[in-house]
Amino acid sequence: MAPSVDGAGLSMKEDEPVAKPLEDRFADGSAVLGVVGLGYVGLPLAVEMAKAGHRVIGLDVSAEKVALVNEGTSYIPDVPIEELAALVGKGLISASADFSRVCECDGVAICVPTPLDAMKEPDTSFMEEAARSIVGSLCPGTLVTLESTTYPGTTEEVIQPILESGGLKVGETLYLAFSPERVDPGNPVYQTRNTPKVVGGVTPECTRLAVAMYSRFIDTVVPVTTTRAAEMTKLLENIFRCVNIALMNELLQVSDRMGIDIWEVVEAAKTKPFGFMPFYPGPGLGGHCIPIDPFYLSWKARQYDMHTEFIELAGKTNEAMPYYVVSRLMDALNLRRRSLAGARILVLGVAYKNDIDDTRETPAIKVIELLLDKEADVSYHDPYVPEFPVAGHVLHSVDLTPEAIAAADAVLVLTGHSNVDYAAVARGAQFVLDTRNALKDFPNEKVVRL
Ligand SMILES: NC(=O)c1ccc[n+]([C@@H]2O[C@H](COP(=O)([O-])OP(=O)(O)OC[C@H]3O[C@@H](n4cnc5c(N)ncnc54)[C@H](O)[C@@H]3O)[C@@H](O)[C@H]2O)c1
Repeated sequence: MAPSVDGAGLSMKEDEPVAKPLEDRFADGSAVLGVVGLGYVGLPLAVEMAKAGHRVIGLDVSAEKVALVNEGTSYIPDVPIEELAALVGKGLISASADFSRVCECDGVAICVPTPLDAMKEPDTSFMEEAARSIVGSLCPGTLVTLESTTYPGTTEEVIQPILESGGLKVGETLYLAFSPERVDPGNPVYQTRNTPKVVGGVTPECTRLAVAMYSRFIDTVVPVTTTRAAEMTKLLENIFRCVNIALMNELLQVSDRMGIDIWEVVEAAKTKPFGFMPFYPGPGLGGHCIPIDPFYLSWKARQYDMHTEFIELAGKTNEAMPYYVVSRLMDALNLRRRSLAGARILVLGVAYKNDIDDTRETPAIKVIELLLDKEADVSYHDPYVPEFPVAGHVLHSVDLTPEAIAAADAVLVLTGHSNVDYAAVARGAQFVLDTRNALKDFPNEKVVRL
């Protein structure tokens, strides 16, 4: 539990720096840690903290998630149920919607959503609300870190004033740092523990303490000198991906006109052992990060009289991809003397990427909306997503039977899940438009790559 520095319960010598006991408690594993927001980022983080021996309190506004965690039931595919159940059973992880329990914590990580609002501007309300809900209960000497992806300046301009409104002062009686989460859901190799973690504090002492905390449960911690550098690091990583995917989407379209197979070209370029990194075209961006985070920077850049044109152009190119996919599908059906109106389209995969159940911002939403708008008869199969709300309907995943495959005028592959029987699709389908190169091992004249 965090010490008091105002006399009552003072747990350090008068001449010792305030932070010393906190660092000791991180080092010996006795520090109690809190995680605010138990989603794709927060729950795996809580598990790593607990595996390192810390008692962890997870705080979330969702009563359902709180109840599931306390039952030891995982709702995040990267967190195995047995692992969570064992940690809950040992009393190392508990969850609560009572934010006053933050007073039990020595270190608290905030992992709440950072979406865009209807005007595609940063919606910082979740972070602000999370900070407001803990401020009244923070003990002096606590370390707070923000992990949500956001624009440079958020930690000091938005979060610090809220936390200091409770009377504590950052760098003196409270410690504050930004440490971006880099989790890649579904990645079998890199998970929370072995993905290096960047940390930047408001003061050098804040950085030092944040490094001390994260080093307990993350293999490699990378300090940077400011919170802004840490915030910008995460945006650089995601903008890099967004811009390169857009480049591939543009090259896909020009290659198609030239009769060149872009997928073959990427495989060939990949053989260069230096100076090239493969990115792939696709039906558009998805997920909570790549389609959203770059716009956090372009919004902030306007305050500095800058227009981040690469980001805007990449956004425009990527957002056009669902329209391009539908026009390619229409062209293909046209050659088969079929109109899209009335055509039976079986969509394969609606999650935003392979082998996960996350449908946030998935391009399948826009593609299916466009197909329904043009009066196609749409069904879908996704082994990870049993139902899919789109365009005011709730679609239900159909079984991928030989009959379902054969009955479709076209199979449209939007996600390349690895547990789909693509051989059966290639064999039985009348026509396949494959936007992910998922059927690369089963080429035939009915299978067309985007
Ligand atoms: N999912 C990813 O792959 C990923 C990767 C890296 C970074 N991020 C970033 O991490 C942050 C969290 O993303 P996520 O995917 O874990 O989101 P999520 O939606 O899966 O989880 C967020 C959790 O926060 C809870 N919450 C919302 N408001 C709250 C509040 N005021 N107090 C407490 N809890 C609250 C929600 O109930 C939910 O459980 C975002 O900024 C995101 O950009 C996500």
